[in-house]
Amino acid sequence: MSRAAKVVSAIAVDDLTARQARAEHKRLKAEIAHHDKLYHEQDAPEISDADYDRLRQRLKAIEERLPELVDSTSPTQTVAPTPTTAFAKVRHGRPMLSLDNAFSDEELQAFLDRVRRGLERETDLAADAEIAFACEPKIDGLSISLRYEDGEFIVGATRGDGTTGEDVTANLRTVKDIPHRLRGTAPRALDVRGEIYMERKAFQQMNERQEAAGEKTFANPRNAAAGSLRQLDAGITATRPLRFFAYAWGEAEPRSWKTHSAYLGLLKEWGFKVNPLSQLCRTADEVRAFYRRIAVERPSLPYDIDGVVYKVDRIDWQERLGFVSRAPRWAIAHKFPAEQARTRLNGILIQVGRTGALTPVADLEPVNVGGVMVARATLHNADEIERLDVRVGDMVIVQRAGDVIPQVLGYVPEERPKKTHKFHFPTHCPCPLHTEVRSEEGGVVRRCTGGLECPFQQVERLRHFVSRNCFDIEGLGGTHIENFWRDGLLKIPGDIFRLPDRVDDIRRREGWGDLSVRNLVAAIEARRTITLDRFINAIGIPLIGEATAKILAQEYGAADAWLAEMLQAAAERTKAPEPAKKEKAATEVGPSYGRLCNVEQIGVTTADAMCAFFGEGHTIEIIRDLLGQLTVQPVERRAVAADAKLRDKIVVFTGELASMTRDAAKARAEELGAKVTDSVSKKTSLVVVGENAGSKARKAAELGIQTMTEAEWLAFSAGS
Ligand code: IVH
Repeated sequence: MSRAAKVVSAIAVDDLTARQARAEHKRLKAEIAHHDKLYHEQDAPEISDADYDRLRQRLKAIEERLPELVDSTSPTQTVAPTPTTAFAKVRHGRPMLSLDNAFSDEELQAFLDRVRRGLERETDLAADAEIAFACEPKIDGLSISLRYEDGEFIVGATRGDGTTGEDVTANLRTVKDIPHRLRGTAPRALDVRGEIYMERKAFQQMNERQEAAGEKTFANPRNAAAGSLRQLDAGITATRPLRFFAYAWGEAEPRSWKTHSAYLGLLKEWGFKVNPLSQLCRTADEVRAFYRRIAVERPSLPYDIDGVVYKVDRIDWQERLGFVSRAPRWAIAHKFPAEQARTRLNGILIQVGRTGALTPVADLEPVNVGGVMVARATLHNADEIERLDVRVGDMVIVQRAGDVIPQVLGYVPEERPKKTHKFHFPTHCPCPLHTEVRSEEGGVVRRCTGGLECPFQQVERLRHFVSRNCFDIEGLGGTHIENFWRDGLLKIPGDIFRLPDRVDDIRRREGWGDLSVRNLVAAIEARRTITLDRFINAIGIPLIGEATAKILAQEYGAADAWLAEMLQAAAERTKAPEPAKKEKAATEVGPSYGRLCNVEQIGVTTADAMCAFFGEGHTIEIIRDLLGQLTVQPVERRAVAADAKLRDKIVVFTGELASMTRDAAKARAEELGAKVTDSVSKKTSLVVVGENAGSKARKAAELGIQTMTEAEWLAFSAGS
């Protein structure tokens, strides 16, 4: 079986001989089974969803032509392979079904016509009667079923083969969008169904964390969500940013609702998240407009969707329409055209990040993917190239999803040129120093060992230094950095502040004139004074990003004090080679190291990485050189007025706020003296409850903590 995207045969099904059709049917069955296994059991699909759908469509078309080929083993008759893992099995009270797909306007129209004809046949529906559809985005995650009895969450399971799934209750209990107890009155027995997913941003951050820790990274948010849910250790799942949207039910005893839209309303009352874009559409035109609207919003949504779902709103009508094999007749998934294209792989480049991590990048013949020209796509890491077996010269399939970096999904075997060579990941950094590359223990990341000497890392570090969240120097973009570096104007960050002495050299360069040079000098001078948090972020300490830099700045206050403490911590650490425990770090290693480990969000791993960084003599020279040219503003620990309304109070915001962003609300609470945290505990003083709030609001009620609605908060926090 090919390891990459197999593309369906170009011959139309009607033109196949019966023998060819039979042979292809057999091949497709095996191929679909192979991809099902990769997708459902290993969370590691080799082909895109669009290619998978194409395989299934082709199989279906062949079966329509030769119905004798249909039997119970055909993928058209089953949902997915029976799960085979270490999780206990759960039999669903009612099967979890799948949806039929529509890929075009015509297919959508055919569905709408089918529904109307079906209802005319089954009910006394008038010819011009309105059929309302509940329309929802189709979340690209994995479906689960949650069993509630007397309002209590009892058991949660994956879909599995539709009849039997895997018991992932312990893992689901860690998902914040899943209530442990339903609010208000709920049916005696209820299966709530919906989608577990991961937001794109959280997925990227998680992958960065995984990579930094040398752990497995995931190709996309869906795989990350699936992989995170199917952890045998619920403690690991708890650290993964999983989310949940509810959109269906299985068993419901008694069922009080008569329409799907009414059910969505109840879900919210019980404490679930329901997709806010869901909408009731009363005419076919409204349904089509919904599809267009969601297609436009798709790139800016925080999570991946792959289409929209239409469901007949009236449940008595759903029951009349019933099911065919694996899917209901009353619903359909209208898929978005995949943003994919094929193009030639001209080369595989190796990019060196500022910490020395080597990332393979596909150099592509530029191609239009869903309206955007793509010439580069990520190949993630050495393991991924190995898995895909893509080779220079191959025709490859490129996918672009939302704002995610384009990626290579696989190659087209039929179009592989005669002479290709397996890609060998370089053993040495592509930089002029050719330093050795080291595989991080157990991890997939390969890193250049050149450290601060590696020219490529130097350039990347400079780029980071001037970027928006660091020194934010306008007019000094990535290409300038590279050119200045090449010509010796810039080597280390301190050189940036020496550029104003070299205006004549710059003015002589191509593309520079009096005005641009003057602007650049002004931009640099404006940054000679900088806050400590930006300074810490800018120097690029491993594992320290914007948020942690802020915390460190708050903790240590001034640049000198901070640097002295870091050096002291590094010195203490070298004398204590045994791995330290956070709680014992101060006594076993030393006071400065102990203080660092105990800073919020730091811990031993990060502290060790920081100590290694500050243990490098060269690093210190670079920092001292910089400090000599700058005024670093100390970050004051927030001085709170004695009469501040929320002095010493711990506040939690939960749910969606309508009139302000979460950050703005948080900032206001801090101004009033509060400490804002994420979780509700006995120590919490106040919980501000927005729309669609879930478990935190409930916990606050259970613990008898004061709560406020958004309106109450606005009134309370207004004024001084
Ligand atoms: S309804 C009987 N609604 O799509 C109908 N499914 O291709 C049950 N999905 O298995 C499904 N968003 O994993 C429904 N708003 C939505 C959905 C949705 C995503 C997934 C779900 C389902 C698959 C079917």
